[in-house]
Amino acid sequence: MTDISHDRLLIIDFGSQVTQLIARRLRELNVFCEIHPFNTVDDAFLKDFNPKAVIFSGGPSSVFAEGAPMPPQSVFDLGVPILGICYGQQVMMQCLGGKVERGHGTAEFGRAFVAPTQNKLDVLEGWFLTEKEQVWMSHGDHVSEIAPGFEVYGTSPNAPFAITGDAARNFYAVQFHPEVHHTPNGARLYENFVRLAGFKGDWTMRAYREEAIAAIRAQVGDAKVICGLSGGVDSSVAAVLIHEAIGDQLTCVFVDHGLLRKGEAEEVVTMFRDNYNMPLIHADEQELFLGELDGVSDPETKRKIIGRLFIDVFQKHATAVGDAKFLAQGTLYPDVIESVSFSGGPSVTIKSHHNVGGLPEKMGLKLVEPLRELFKDEVRALGRELGLPASFIGRHPFPGPGLAIRCPGEITREKLAILREADAVYIDQIRKHGLYDEIWQAFVAILPVRTVGVMGDGRTYDFACALRAVNSVDGMTADYYPFTHEFLGETATRIINEVPGINRVTYDITSKPPGTIEWE
Ligand code: XMP
Repeated sequence: MTDISHDRLLIIDFGSQVTQLIARRLRELNVFCEIHPFNTVDDAFLKDFNPKAVIFSGGPSSVFAEGAPMPPQSVFDLGVPILGICYGQQVMMQCLGGKVERGHGTAEFGRAFVAPTQNKLDVLEGWFLTEKEQVWMSHGDHVSEIAPGFEVYGTSPNAPFAITGDAARNFYAVQFHPEVHHTPNGARLYENFVRLAGFKGDWTMRAYREEAIAAIRAQVGDAKVICGLSGGVDSSVAAVLIHEAIGDQLTCVFVDHGLLRKGEAEEVVTMFRDNYNMPLIHADEQELFLGELDGVSDPETKRKIIGRLFIDVFQKHATAVGDAKFLAQGTLYPDVIESVSFSGGPSVTIKSHHNVGGLPEKMGLKLVEPLRELFKDEVRALGRELGLPASFIGRHPFPGPGLAIRCPGEITREKLAILREADAVYIDQIRKHGLYDEIWQAFVAILPVRTVGVMGDGRTYDFACALRAVNSVDGMTADYYPFTHEFLGETATRIINEVPGINRVTYDITSKPPGTIEWE
């Protein structure tokens, strides 16, 4: 398939909510890893995967439960280093002849402190920065007797076997979660582990790109693929990657619902059609969307109308492409549900974030999601690797319903036109002041009120607008951006001078919660 040869680490997932963070820590070390649910890992799989090291994730189960998740015993005969985490530690001990005890009043959740024992272990080199290293625990059962060959290297009040290891076999097991933020020195453990395992740290975005291309070709064969392009980072990177893999078997559909920002449609179309020579359907459906939104002011009704029309329009154009078998989406790792299904057979239960919700089922399409294993910043790195312009990669998020939810009350073409101009001036100001990349998202909302003003010698009666700028990590919580008064004053003056129709500018200083980022 691909001649990329890099060492592979296998993460056997027992269902922990934070398994993906293990992958994250390893990616930061340029180690290639794949997460596979325990019930898909058997002897044949292990032989085929040929891991250079294995990590057992944590998980919600108890080794005492009937049908408790277990790895194949043959994993211990591979002769490769293994690291067990939390439930993974208990599994390791159970399999290798140790004992696990049910947690009766000895459960530990949250912060705990692990102290070193007299024993020394390479994998812990540089780990104990303090006498008591903070770790994050989340377990009910605990190991009560370690397996033959193991020693204890760290203890916590409720986990006497917090860090255990068998240095001869390179098997290590910890009761806590080194992958989470609340184990501040946790990354060190992974670093030492992969170093001991002999990883060269050669897994880069270039390698990912080639792997992903091979995987897309293998999945799609000679079938046609359609991709809804929004102009956002995720769908753009997905489209460019897939195009590189299968060329003109991919057709992108860009729906212009009339709710885009100034120059946005041209920018997207030019970039993909002219720069990438990609088959692109530019569906100009402004009349349809704006017609159906006419007179609608309720936010949820707006969203529902837009969502429904989007699916109809996408379906119409996708059907015109011919017999597409796949729908490409820029689903990211955080969109993929963390846990695996233990009862539902070997398949992983995922929650796909349907950018064009409901379409795959409706049209009988299979999904191609080449970014499913990446975090947002990795998608940006991949975009850079693929040569997408920096201006595209660094764009602020833009919601599917577009300007409709930045225009509280009734949407009119007049208001949209004013909003586009005001937004363009605001973003221009932010760029000129070198703040664009410091801000997570910034935009203007046009308010459904007119206010009285005085310009020159005359009276004005125009719309008021609100500037919004927030910092956030994931959009779930946010705080307003602390612009200087000079910046705000200058921006207000520019908007009022340059945008006919607006005579008052306010700055929204609401955090989320209690507010939301968008106004509707
Ligand atoms: P809120 O307003 O909920 O927004 O605080 C959080 C983030 O999500 C974006 N957003 C959307 N993105 N479709 C999208 O693709 C939507 O319907 C949608 N609504 C909000 C919003 O811009 C912010 O980044």
